[in-house]
Amino acid sequence: MQTVNRLDELHPAVDSLRQRGDVALVPTMGALHPGHLTLVREAKARAGAVVVSIFVNPTQFGPNEDLAAYPRRLAEDTRLLEAEGVDLLWAPSVEEVYPEGFATHISVADLSETLCGTFRPGHFDGVATVVAKLFNQVRPDLAVFGEKDWQQLAVIRRMARDLDLTHPRAARILGVPTVRELDGLAMSSRNRYLSSQDRARAGALPRLMREAIAAIVSGEAVASTLAALRSALLEAGFESVDYAELADARSLRPLTAPADAPARLFVAARIGGTRLIDNMPLAD
Ligand code: PAJ
Repeated sequence: MQTVNRLDELHPAVDSLRQRGDVALVPTMGALHPGHLTLVREAKARAGAVVVSIFVNPTQFGPNEDLAAYPRRLAEDTRLLEAEGVDLLWAPSVEEVYPEGFATHISVADLSETLCGTFRPGHFDGVATVVAKLFNQVRPDLAVFGEKDWQQLAVIRRMARDLDLTHPRAARILGVPTVRELDGLAMSSRNRYLSSQDRARAGALPRLMREAIAAIVSGEAVASTLAALRSALLEAGFESVDYAELADARSLRPLTAPADAPARLFVAARIGGTRLIDNMPLAD
């Protein structure tokens, strides 16, 4: 696996990979876990060459968020990606991605303003901007993202479509189902922040979400089920719940009753100072 840190090295490196067929890109912020590696395997199964990016993107962190504390483990990540047979690691510095005077931002209306967007203003603008840059830098035929960050995936799909951010052969965007720990907790780099006690309690999040989905599917009212879900999360040891919403899977608009369109349950809640998010389909 080749590692490159500069744009002038990236372009020839990607160009030579194109001889092997389609190039897939897996954007990450590192601190890799089996969820990330599942995206890498999906990419490998569908493309001739795989590029993984590791970049802790400062513009998607709010002023009071965990940018400085975000885990950085490039040596360990490099070993993991090498073992997966990744062809190229793109690991630019902040200066390489945002040179002095950088002034352009992409903002995806509506989809960025609901759910996490309400609690993390500017977050999805930071994501959309960096992902647009990564697409332009690497020019992949395929880009792979996790459904764990369903809203992010929706924002990226809309941005790529709206801006024709597609390669001549059209960069396809693939969403991969959430990879979970044995107790159901969605894998996340941020799970490393949890104390062992909070980690044990955090398993209540997916369990209570499944129970809420079962209640809604069996005909319980959505509003009272969501209220009960919030209370149960607080009782299970979460200190606050940013949101617990049933929403249309595509528009992300809140639903007050199950509709004909696919619906998902979305939750963001804090435990031990760490904000965890999860989402699940109403019916599988
Ligand atoms: P990061 O949190 O590192 O996640 C990188 C990719 O891995 C995202 O597409 C995310 O949805 C996916 N992922 C994370 N945990 C997962 C899990 N348990 N199962 C399946 N996929 C999972 O998301 C970002 O980085 C950044 O916002 C980024 C897109 C790289 C832009 O900076």
